[in-house]
Amino acid sequence: MIHKTLINDAKKVLNANFQEAGFTIPSKGLYPFQWKWDSGFIAIGLSYYNIAKAKLEVETLLNAQWNNGFIPHIIFHKENDSYFPGADFHCSELHPLSSKKHKSTGMTQPPITGFVLKEMYRIAEDKEDMLQFIQKHIDKVYENHLYFYTNRDPFNEGLMYIYHNWESGTDNSPVWDDIWKTMDPPEYAFERKDTTHVNASQRPSKREYDYYLHLIEIAKKHKYDDEKIAKISPFLVQDPLFNAMLIKSNEALIELYDLLGGEGAKKLVIQQWQQKSKKGFKKLFDAELGAYIHYDLRNKRPIRHITSSSFSPLFAGIPDVEKAKILTTTMLEKFGGEDKYLCASFDPTNDKFNPKKYWRGPVWINMNWMLYYGLKRYDYKELADRIKKDSIELIDRDGFFEYFDCRKENGEPNRTGYGGGNFSWSAALIIDLLKN
Ligand code: SER
Repeated sequence: MIHKTLINDAKKVLNANFQEAGFTIPSKGLYPFQWKWDSGFIAIGLSYYNIAKAKLEVETLLNAQWNNGFIPHIIFHKENDSYFPGADFHCSELHPLSSKKHKSTGMTQPPITGFVLKEMYRIAEDKEDMLQFIQKHIDKVYENHLYFYTNRDPFNEGLMYIYHNWESGTDNSPVWDDIWKTMDPPEYAFERKDTTHVNASQRPSKREYDYYLHLIEIAKKHKYDDEKIAKISPFLVQDPLFNAMLIKSNEALIELYDLLGGEGAKKLVIQQWQQKSKKGFKKLFDAELGAYIHYDLRNKRPIRHITSSSFSPLFAGIPDVEKAKILTTTMLEKFGGEDKYLCASFDPTNDKFNPKKYWRGPVWINMNWMLYYGLKRYDYKELADRIKKDSIELIDRDGFFEYFDCRKENGEPNRTGYGGGNFSWSAALIIDLLKN
């Protein structure tokens, strides 16, 4: 009964956030445009009850692809002054191959579109029809991966770099703090909009925004040229989540090309990427911490913190069974106390853990969704079920928020979730978890 109500409420959230231009905003006010990875997760939820909208969501995103295969992280379909920094700040037109149709940012987000197509195929009742849709779009995703392997892997390690914390998806993680210490950006004058929608204690600080803007200014100065960015950006990181998503999407593309048939050459290329990336991924495993970690390519040092991204390689089948065992032990020991919901976004035993602040501790439903399937993949059924149960309980208890306190009791008499309300991917992915 609870489940039925939750599913209906989730559909209401998604329907209310749908825009005429053919996409779904993540959250009214706070995020009024199309975000790349949000769109992918949203399409998965939509596939359960409105396959036409799910297809449109992906199609609209892919329509904004640049001529070099790049897919931007925000597509500014129409003007909206409730968000900063908007199209006028990012100036995607600086890049010679950017979309002529759509203004966007000049950065990307985790490459999930490949595995989203596969999920849509899994969920669709009419498989033939979905395969036709995939046939029409799969090469765009292939071109996107080709962009990464051509431009984002300067040392040919099979590990892509990101040049901005917003490319990671885990925007304000403490993982970036030591990188900020290597930078000294000017104090920019600008008007924050996010803190007019959400309590400032749950969002990044003004100084953190200075770093974020500064990285964009540097990229803009060089017209978003990948080669220049790789040479000079103070932020250049190999992120386990970003790279695990790429590997998971590679795997999906191989399976989908198999289903479609006749694309042997592309399949072979992806298989080679996959081999290189899986091998390269070993660099990100920290045996002492028992987890995958980020690597700071600019300053040539590992960033030794455990985050929910540390466990995301399970979703992509990257660790061997021995490493998978180590990951689950670390997860249970550090994140899995009886007083906590799984899975905090940052190590709860670390001084920098903050249960309320954007990516510095709260639980995120998209991460839980990936961990659920990742743990199932390795047959950790009990732990997977716990993550699923915790996700459902959090939404049922706190509402369809952007992120959630991992403490079962946080002392707040009128407890709710944090960040944006009526948050689309929380709604979309809970539909999948409940239906599955
Ligand atoms: N999520 C970021 C923000 O806070 C941008 O992707 O605005």
